[in-house]
Formats: sequence, structure tokens, C-alpha cells
Amino acid sequence: MKGPVLIFDSGVGGLSVAQSLRQHYPDAAMCYACDNAWLPYGLREDTALTNRIVAVCCAAVEACQPSVLVVACNTASTLALENLRARLAIPVVGTVPAIKPAAAISQTRHIGLLATKATVGRPYTQRLIDSFASDCIITRVAADALVVEAEAYLAGITPNIGRMQAALAPLWQAAAPLSANVPLDTVVLGCTHFPLLKPWLTQLAPVPLHWVDSGDAIARRVAQVVDGLNHSEQQDGRCFTTAPATNLTAGLARYGFQTPQLLPITS
Ligand code: DGL
Repeated sequence: MKGPVLIFDSGVGGLSVAQSLRQHYPDAAMCYACDNAWLPYGLREDTALTNRIVAVCCAAVEACQPSVLVVACNTASTLALENLRARLAIPVVGTVPAIKPAAAISQTRHIGLLATKATVGRPYTQRLIDSFASDCIITRVAADALVVEAEAYLAGITPNIGRMQAALAPLWQAAAPLSANVPLDTVVLGCTHFPLLKPWLTQLAPVPLHWVDSGDAIARRVAQVVDGLNHSEQQDGRCFTTAPATNLTAGLARYGFQTPQLLPITS
């Protein structure tokens, strides 16, 4: 493989995936692209969002000539993977809620799905549940407010605990020993922004829970679709945004990415 791994998200959520990739492949060259001009994706209309995702990913692929595109966004992957694969000549690895690994470990057979409003309602998500967790109760919690908190955190602002607790209340209710159903014991972090908040999530949870994200599965999948990950000095660490992001420069640097360049988007 010659080109870098290109990681794409609406915002900083893909950095949680970049972290998993670096743990597995410390020498691989990586570029990062985010569509911060359209953030958050979770509240956007499907057709316009699909066109936008394709336009931004094509521009980012043109700019950094990667060997593989990792769509490090559940909201984008559950909507636009087919469109992206039809347009791009390189492998495209998606990120979808980790329902299967969660079902493999849940003892109570009650799983929480914490994701954006779009992802919790998508047919793709329902198919994952039908295929891998049909014997489980799934409590779906749309927590778009946590995307905002994760973005703020990367910009150096401590997450707002009151706003986090308001978004998480339905999850805590379903985890309580006296809930109407058997309590949930496992939570799928079905948005790549949420692992960035894991220290707060684990601290705020009223009972110990299993937290499952897609990072390791994506890293394994990347190794399957490319033949070897090399370090490419020229491209490594390049970063692209669709709107100025000076507030994120320090946060991006902590994850090994350079000061962002603006991506030219025509649509
Ligand atoms: N990080 C994205 C995901 O995994 C969503 C954030 C957004 O709503 O833009 O779904």
C-alpha cells in the first residue's frame, strides 16, 4: 500500500477511530478529514446529507490520495456507504453500531444503543439488531447533545455535566435495578464522538456497565482490505476541514494531526 489511511467524520469523532488505528498500526500514515461546516450530521435530512458526504469524501480523497477511506461516522455509514463505494475506486470501510459484539457479552440480554437521532432510527441499524440481537431488548437513546459536548471537549472546554446527564437520563433509567424491564448491562457507543467522553460516561453511570465501540473492529477490517500499512512521510498527519477550525488545532495535534487545511467543496 502506498497512500495513507484517510479517516472521515462530520467532526472530531473520527479521532476516537484514529486512536484505535494507531494502537493497532503505530507506523501507518494517516490523514483526517471532517465536514465541520455541516456538523452535526445526526439532525440532517437524508438525501441532502448523502450528496454532501459523497462530495466531501471525493474532495478529501482527491486531496490526499489514500489507499483506503475509513468512514469514521455511524451517521454517515448507515446512510451512504453504497453511494461512496459506487463513486470511489479505493476500499471504503464503514463504522456501524457494534450491536454484534454487545450481544455477545450482554448477560441480561438488554442493551443500550447510544447514538445520534439519525442512527438510532435507520433501517441499517434495525437490520443489525434483527441479525445479531433479536433475543435482546434494545433501549435506543438519541443523544445528539453529546456530539456538541465532545466537540467542545476537543476545543479545550470541559463537558457540561448537566447537559450530559439530561441526554443520558433514559439510559440510566434502563440500567436501574428497578426499571420496568430487566436492567441493561451493556451500552453500544454508536457514535464515534462518544468514546471521547468515556471518562465522564463511566463516572456518571449509576451502575457499572460494559461499553462497546467499533474502534477495534474497524482496525481489523482496515488490515483485511489493504495489503500492508506503510508510513508515507509526505501525507502523514495531514488534516482537512470544510470550515475554519482554529479552535481545534491543539486538540487535533494531540491526536497527531497538523493544522487543518480548507477542503474545496463545490456542492
Ligand atoms: N460522529 C458521528 C457518528 O458516528 C456523528 C456526529 C454528528 O451528528 O455529526 O455518528
